[in-house]
Amino acid sequence: MKLLITGGAGFIGSNFIHYMLTEYPDIQIVNFDALTYAGNLENLGPVERNPRYTFVKGDITVEADVTAVFQAHAMDAVVHFAAESHVDRSLLLGPEGPEAFIRTNILGTQRLLDTARVHRVRRFVHVSTDEVYGSLESEGRFMETSPIQPNNPYAATKAGSDFMVRAAHRSHGLDAVITRCSNNFGPYQFPEKLIPLMIANALENKPLPVYGDGRQVRDWIYVRDHCRGIDCVLRQGKAGEVYNIGGMHDVPNLEVVRLILKLLNKPDSLIQHVTDRPGHDRRYAIDSTKIETELGWRRQFDFETALKATVDWYLQYRTWWERIRSGEYQKYYATMYGKR
Ligand code: NAD
Ligand code: DAU
Repeated sequence: MKLLITGGAGFIGSNFIHYMLTEYPDIQIVNFDALTYAGNLENLGPVERNPRYTFVKGDITVEADVTAVFQAHAMDAVVHFAAESHVDRSLLLGPEGPEAFIRTNILGTQRLLDTARVHRVRRFVHVSTDEVYGSLESEGRFMETSPIQPNNPYAATKAGSDFMVRAAHRSHGLDAVITRCSNNFGPYQFPEKLIPLMIANALENKPLPVYGDGRQVRDWIYVRDHCRGIDCVLRQGKAGEVYNIGGMHDVPNLEVVRLILKLLNKPDSLIQHVTDRPGHDRRYAIDSTKIETELGWRRQFDFETALKATVDWYLQYRTWWERIRSGEYQKYYATMYGKR
């Protein structure tokens, strides 16, 4: 099988490439990525000389780039990860704000769908998120049939892209499937997201900025479990269907942050409550019954073991995140947290 992976230089995409190349000796992968601030070829260092792996720099919003990669490689399937993925950035004013999210997440997805149709790709997997469902009260879990009620620009653009994928399937018969996963963590996650940011700050004895009261709940899943779920959907998912993928570990942010401090032997006094995120969703929790019963997927990693492995990874690969944090990231950190 020949796979086009979009956004493979990012966090989940790079983990997926490592997973697939290890699991399937016959698979060939083309990684198509624009290398935005979140794309990092260091994430693919271990496979860059693998003859079954090719990197193509390109932007999913640019027609010529997308056409060229489909013309150069006969793809069996597309697994689409490329996106602007950080909620806080989608709340900024200016070109890095919602506009960038609309361009990549909606227009870019449409460009891929059109090109996949022209080139008769056999399967298109769209990697989406539980954020499209909005926020839960204290009870219940998101089902695939839950209403789509996004509350921030990132989530709204992912919902928009989900609708375009659905439309490509219904209008043109494109064999497309959608996955909606909860919060991932693990190796190679950009240190703007909660878990790697807290690990890095704690290691540098800097304050850990917890938004609001820190009682917002997220459903954490180890990235490798998500990758296995995407693989299941790629191989066995039914065209036109949506599959939720969750970690079954929904806990308040403060609990996660305290556990990180404990694993690093750092004091809770590093926690600093800061102004809340506007429109901050209170609670996410996923019901994964459909993928479990129909495709036989099960979460394999428990949260505490996987978090410990993640903390160990960030300790071992300190230069990976220190390099990121020493560049443009400093401007980002000052904008986001400077006056909070
Ligand atoms: P990420 O921000 O780490 O990586 C995104 C990648 O996409 C980067 O390599 C970037 O260079 C690339 N990219 C961005 N714009 C592009 C463009 N116009 N053309 C080509 N490449 C472009 O993201 P992630 O956390 O790995 O998330 C991957 C996907 O999974 C996203 O679609 C996201 O919505 C979804 N998702 C993420 C999570 C999570 O917890 N991180 C959970 C559920 C779903
Ligand atoms: O649910 C899936 C989504 O999870 C994905 O679709 C997104 O791409 C991914 O970024 C993630 O979104 P969140 O907004 O939930 O993730 P983030 O890591 O930014 O924040 C997790 C929680 O921690 C959230 O309640 C906000 C809070 N937080 C985050 C940061 C960065 C803090 O309290 N302090 C922080 O500094």
